[in-house]
Amino acid sequence: MRERNILLVTILVLSLIGVGIAVASLVRPLPQPASDRAVLVDQLLRVFFGLATAVFLGVEGLLVFAAVRGRLFGSSAAISNPNPALELLWLAVPAALVLVLSVYSIRVLLLIEAPRSDPLLVEIAASQYRWEFHYPESGVTANELHLPAGRPAVLTFRSSDVIHSFWVPVFGGKVDALPDRVTSLALTPLRTGVYQAVCAEYCGADHAGMIAPVWVEDPAGFEQWLQSEAGD
Ligand code: CUA
Repeated sequence: MRERNILLVTILVLSLIGVGIAVASLVRPLPQPASDRAVLVDQLLRVFFGLATAVFLGVEGLLVFAAVRGRLFGSSAAISNPNPALELLWLAVPAALVLVLSVYSIRVLLLIEAPRSDPLLVEIAASQYRWEFHYPESGVTANELHLPAGRPAVLTFRSSDVIHSFWVPVFGGKVDALPDRVTSLALTPLRTGVYQAVCAEYCGADHAGMIAPVWVEDPAGFEQWLQSEAGD
């Protein structure tokens, strides 16, 4: 009987782990990542999602099992017979999970905030209701953001009026542009493509129209664009 129970619990736990892994690998709540930091955040979110699903199904399953069993046998034996080993187990398992997730989250945070080597600098000026992109190395100023794929970039933000928020969903990370302080976002674009930057902080009547195209190009294409802008 005891062996059968251990076998049953093992099968159930393995099934929950399997469901968790399936959810983590199949469910993608975020858009396909296009930067190094978005990849790390996407993985983190999916691990949390998979684990949360397994814990939810496990806890709710036990609850339903206990309710049905309690009704069938009409017994309150478990309440009057404390089981220290079991209580220790359901303290230890969540504590271990929280510890592992904390270490993982801190690691991701340190990685996405780590300084990038030889970054391309772009100074971004926000104002009601436009974004302006300045490349200090080449003196180019444009109303769309161009970045070379594979090279780290550091974007700095400043606002000339109210608070705005720069957000390119596929890059991950959202940064406020403030009137009295310079903020920044470091990232390495990984996929070429045309994306969109939006303002994610209500800033006035035309907040919704405060958008700008974002081009991630191969390095040659980026240089070509930079030269054509510098020549204007
Ligand atoms: Cu700028 Cu909303």
